[in-house]
Amino acid sequence: MKTAIVVHGGAGAWSEKPDRLSRALPVCIEAAKAGQAVLVAGGSAMDAVETAVRILEDHPVLDAGRGSYPNADGLVEMDALMMNGRNLDLGAIAAVQRIQNPISLARRVMEYHDHNFLVGNGAEAFAAKAGIPFCDPADLLTDENLAHYQAANGTTNPAADSGSIGDTVGAVAIDADGNLVAGTSTGGTRHKLPGRVGDSPLVGSGGYADNWTAAVSATGHGEALMKVVISKRVCDLVGDGLSAQAACDAAIQLLAERVDGTGGLIAVDARGQIGVARNTNAMPFAYAIGDEAIVSGH
Ligand code: GLY
Repeated sequence: MKTAIVVHGGAGAWSEKPDRLSRALPVCIEAAKAGQAVLVAGGSAMDAVETAVRILEDHPVLDAGRGSYPNADGLVEMDALMMNGRNLDLGAIAAVQRIQNPISLARRVMEYHDHNFLVGNGAEAFAAKAGIPFCDPADLLTDENLAHYQAANGTTNPAADSGSIGDTVGAVAIDADGNLVAGTSTGGTRHKLPGRVGDSPLVGSGGYADNWTAAVSATGHGEALMKVVISKRVCDLVGDGLSAQAACDAAIQLLAERVDGTGGLIAVDARGQIGVARNTNAMPFAYAIGDEAIVSGH
């Protein structure tokens, strides 16, 4: 089976900050390359997705891990999801504040715990027991995001900022054994109310993976994306016979028509075919099929 990995750096109003987009694209390429190296060396889709998403989380230009947007109180609260298409195992975490790489905590929840979804203090207590590294919350907040927060002067209406420059990161992959995995990680929308959780950690919304159909990661305005359970919808459309690309296009069209939503999707199906779609003005992405050269765009 030919391997494949696709990553995204978030759909949004990137045209407002072209310099930011030009910083984000190389990060996506680096993440896709790192995931490709794992797959080409015979590694699992799970390791490839975690490796890629950690790189995206670590880069301050993207809204996940370091670089997450602060909420209305000026604090970072992060959500993440990881799903294994082989057995439909999943791990999700929400509203964590002190975890440098939330995707690794989501994976740990999936692998070592009887529960699927942990939030807030409980998720961080689990992280401490699981040996997941903590960080100072101040390290997650970039000067750029802090300045934007201060300029907004206490705006607390998340809808007002649903068109963030880019929100969320994600990766999907298929390995040589045909296993599909999806991972999504986010700081959520700018100025969100404390405690607000978006689509990203919600199974079927922020991501989904099923070896029978596809692996999908979503980005965009979470309140809309979750209403149409967009990632599971892509998988179902692939199950109905659509290509990964046609399924992503159809789901984005539905998002717009049914709930007036904006966002983006990446997918890889069980045959290793790729889909990328958005209805925002950009979404940096990169993908690698087998050991072929990286393809990138926005
Ligand atoms: N799509 C990420 C969020 O709305 O939180």
